[in-house]
Amino acid sequence: MHVVQTIEGFRKALDAERAQGRVVGLVPTMGALHDGHLSLLRRAGAECDVVAVTVFVNPLQFEHADDLASYPRDLAADAAMAAGAGVHHLFAPSAAEMHPGEMLTRVAVARLGDGMEGSCRPGHFEGVATVVTKLFAIAGACRAYFGEKDYQQLTVVRRLVSDLSFPVEVVACPTVRAPDGLALSSRNVHLSGAERAAAPVLHRALAAGAAAVERGESRPALVSLAMARIISQEPLATLEYAEVLEEDLRWRLLVAARIGNVRLIDNIEVQAP
Ligand code: PAF
Repeated sequence: MHVVQTIEGFRKALDAERAQGRVVGLVPTMGALHDGHLSLLRRAGAECDVVAVTVFVNPLQFEHADDLASYPRDLAADAAMAAGAGVHHLFAPSAAEMHPGEMLTRVAVARLGDGMEGSCRPGHFEGVATVVTKLFAIAGACRAYFGEKDYQQLTVVRRLVSDLSFPVEVVACPTVRAPDGLALSSRNVHLSGAERAAAPVLHRALAAGAAAVERGESRPALVSLAMARIISQEPLATLEYAEVLEEDLRWRLLVAARIGNVRLIDNIEVQAP
């Protein structure tokens, strides 16, 4: 596996792959790789000729300095996991490499970043859209793999690709869960034993929402209430939102909650009633 820290080196490596007629699969990450990322890397490996992973904890998408500082980082472990998954290029730039001066340019995707994560984390999606735009500008034509766990992020990224005409095909990959339903997330390492035991409440809430829809509940507000009720019954959980997005024949149920100090999100898709 080729590990590269410079923008120029990464760009040249991927240009050389494409010059050989190879399709590049790009997996943008903030590191602390887990089995969820592994599923993205494997899917990229199955569908593309070469796989490139980026590991960069993007300061622009954190609203609180302590959240940025405590974000788990272990490049050696990430490199070992990426190499084991058959990754060809690992791009791990420093903050100075990505932002040598003050970053005056921002990318904002209107409306899609409002509400839910956008309300709870002001500025978050502008930070995500800006770094993803920069990564796409560096990486060039590719298929880019994103997890459905960050569903609102996925909609923002799809839209920026389409609005800005990036030569990028966005591929959405299903959420990977622990056997008790907890969606895998780099933040899960911060959960204490008791918090880890409480954390599947997010998935239980989504399951309760899905069951209500299956029973024929067609009022989104009542489905949201059913999900919110489950989370509010868990003493270690503080609900941030429980929402329903109506998308044609499918509904997307989404929840966010703090378990202790750890903020978790999850979502599932259900057939509209
Ligand atoms: O989903 C993530 O890990 C990040 O938001 C991303 C897309 C790598 C941008 O920093």
